[in-house]
Amino acid sequence: MKIFSGIRPSGNLHLGNYLGAMQQWIKLQNENDCVFCIVDLHAITTPYKPGELKKHILDTTAVYLAAGINPEKSVIFVQSQVKEHSELAWLLETITPMGELKRMTQFKEKSEQHKDYVNAGLLSYPVLMAADILLYKTDSVPVGKDQEQHIEFTRMIAKKFNQKFGDTFKEPASMILKEGAKIMSLTNPKKKMSKSDEPKSCIFLFDTPADITKKIMSAETDSGKEVIYNVTKKRGISNLLTIYSLLTGKTTADLEKEFKGKGYGDFKKSLAEVVVQYLEPFRRKQQEFATRESYLEEILKQGQSRAQIIAQATMQEVKQKMGLI
Ligand code: TYM
Repeated sequence: MKIFSGIRPSGNLHLGNYLGAMQQWIKLQNENDCVFCIVDLHAITTPYKPGELKKHILDTTAVYLAAGINPEKSVIFVQSQVKEHSELAWLLETITPMGELKRMTQFKEKSEQHKDYVNAGLLSYPVLMAADILLYKTDSVPVGKDQEQHIEFTRMIAKKFNQKFGDTFKEPASMILKEGAKIMSLTNPKKKMSKSDEPKSCIFLFDTPADITKKIMSAETDSGKEVIYNVTKKRGISNLLTIYSLLTGKTTADLEKEFKGKGYGDFKKSLAEVVVQYLEPFRRKQQEFATRESYLEEILKQGQSRAQIIAQATMQEVKQKMGLI
């Protein structure tokens, strides 16, 4: 199968990004053709500092490697370094109904969040995402739940293109985990964990053990004191149980038994230890890669060449089908 996915280099990556998306990538890479992108052109649709973008791109590359993505097998590259992404996005825009873009949840949320930064790029964001996916004739897109609507949109565009210009694109499926697809904020378990939220609501992959412990110990929990999984009545504890379960492989039912008769405090302390231990290699590798910028750049350069070959072939076909010369 052909797999494509990406992450915006718009700040530190958090446990939600890892558990919802990246954990799937690692499992998929051995048996499939995987392309993993650092989507910098998407990152600039919300406020950002130009001077920090390169650091975020390299940090995201380091996370991909630290998580276990093997650059010998999978293609790792930066979106803006393969110009076919922007080129295809423009062509696809010409067949995109405006109404479809305006109804996208992410557009509504982001334009609400950044009222003085509602740019055209934010509106056409899903078209660029469709271009990312379709350029590589992708079968499946492993993502968190919040991206499901964008993949649905991509299928709609693929179908429209095929109907108008002849069979060209596959209609890609989203791959969304049953558990972990939506990790919630530590400070408000009704909202998803998000890079743009306050730092104490997120566990970042490079957080120090002290920060991780502090954030988990002060995570919002529910009234009551039993450690029970119930997403409607005990959102906070259920979110923490999900994280515990995904990092240890224990089921939430096993964890309920393990913590029966113990309070939230004991449970949180144990979870903090699990998270600190799980993320230890990330911190170690980040320090290692921080001094090897040229190594990361070399990986991205190789990824660029490999991605370009596929992207150029698709663009040639698309242009021909659309009557461009
Ligand atoms: P981004 O950068 O917001 O998030 C990257 C990945 O992390 C997942 N994710 C979560 N999963 C579980 N719980 C959470 N709290 C959580 N927060 C984020 C996201 O679902 C995503 O899989 N538009 C995309 C980037 C993109 C892309 C693509 C993805 C651009 N082109 C093509 C796939 C294919 C985004 O903003 O992801």
